[in-house]
Amino acid sequence: MDKLQILLVGSGGREHALVWKLSQSSKIAKLYCAPGNAGISSIAECVPIKVDDIQGLVDFCNQNKIDLVVVGPELPLTLGLVDELEKAGIKAFGPTKKAAEIEGSKAFSKDLMKKYGIPTADYGVFYDLESARNFAREMKGPWVVKADGLAAGKGVLICSTIEETEDAIEKVLRGEVAGQAGEKLVIEEFLAGEELSVLAFCDGKTIVPMVPSQDHKRIYDNDKGPNTGGMGAYSPVPVATPELLKEVEEKVLIPTVQAMEQEGRPYKGVLYAGLMLTKEGIKVLEYNARFGDPETQVVLPRLDTDLCDIMLAVLEGRLQDLNISWKQAACINVVMASGGYPGSYTKGYPISGLEEIPEDVLVFHSGTALKEGQVVTAGGRVLSVSAFGEDIKQAQVRAYDIMKKITFKDAYYRKDIANKAIKR
Ligand code: AMP
Ligand code: GLY
Repeated sequence: MDKLQILLVGSGGREHALVWKLSQSSKIAKLYCAPGNAGISSIAECVPIKVDDIQGLVDFCNQNKIDLVVVGPELPLTLGLVDELEKAGIKAFGPTKKAAEIEGSKAFSKDLMKKYGIPTADYGVFYDLESARNFAREMKGPWVVKADGLAAGKGVLICSTIEETEDAIEKVLRGEVAGQAGEKLVIEEFLAGEELSVLAFCDGKTIVPMVPSQDHKRIYDNDKGPNTGGMGAYSPVPVATPELLKEVEEKVLIPTVQAMEQEGRPYKGVLYAGLMLTKEGIKVLEYNARFGDPETQVVLPRLDTDLCDIMLAVLEGRLQDLNISWKQAACINVVMASGGYPGSYTKGYPISGLEEIPEDVLVFHSGTALKEGQVVTAGGRVLSVSAFGEDIKQAQVRAYDIMKKITFKDAYYRKDIANKAIKR
């Protein structure tokens, strides 16, 4: 087989981890990334094309003889990038537009779960204030109000009173929370428990779960403050016993892939199940149509198998024949963010300490840029550190040790990533 020219689409820590892992493959001749970031540019050639510029991405692939496109974020998936690339005869890793609706529309995914008996919170879908309010008044709190469409983590409002809930419904429908994504909304029952992310490779028929991980969504220690894109993760997850993971496969992953096939939306790529481990058992909080961020930064470092081989097997429907192996080592990832995130923050601060990182620790850039040869901050989540250990405690000590070496003005990170696992 000739070596491949690959284009990775995206610019976050997840994409840095994907590029890092792909770069170890012997099957690759050249890696490009659109648009990438300062960290990615040390491994791949970055090209300034935005992730939602579908035509621009297809044109680039045609002009540069790209063999395979790997799509990182959800937006281009829901805009149909994979469909357009396939039309142009270019292989693409990720679900088609119709399959990506599993993330792009919460109403679609909730209806799918209901129709196929996949465990999830009770819910209703609404287009108008009156019926949404009536539904909310009939149920017990706390209430969860979700904008239907993509909202970059801002579309979920958890309300403790009915007044707050009615206010949330109005704001979502008026477009004040998530713009057009809130033209339709989902109101659902609040689920209490511990969260778990299970990502799986999926070739349309066969699913192969990756090692489980747990994200930390809130900005402050002890899960306080507003939701973010994710402030850190760890893998493995002690609560995710082999028995529990078998249940996730049997009750969630397999039925979902079968449901998507029956609906005429065969699913290829990564299926991400965001789960709540409730007293009544596992329930799906949401699906994502892609790798998670920061989950990818702890899952891929534990992957032994060549990622390019896995992606080709997914595209060619050969997952069943592939043996995928994982490292025993534990991995934790801590995100360093700009002060003020997830609210407003300042960009452009120089980052120091990046030269002193030992080889056994990985630094993945999220929002960074190069300015006159200096790496500077360029986003809310700026970078993250992934460290290994024989167990989670050891990996945690190592990660926090390295965090101290990296500095920029107003840098912020959580100090309790993986504490939940260690307390167990
Ligand atoms: P989602 O985008 O649907 O995953 O929601 C984002 C976050 O909101 C989840 O990771 C949970 O922390 C929280 N969340 C969403 N739905 C519920 C629910 N029904 N009950 C409790 N928390 C929820
Ligand atoms: N870590 C959550 C997500 O990727 O959506």
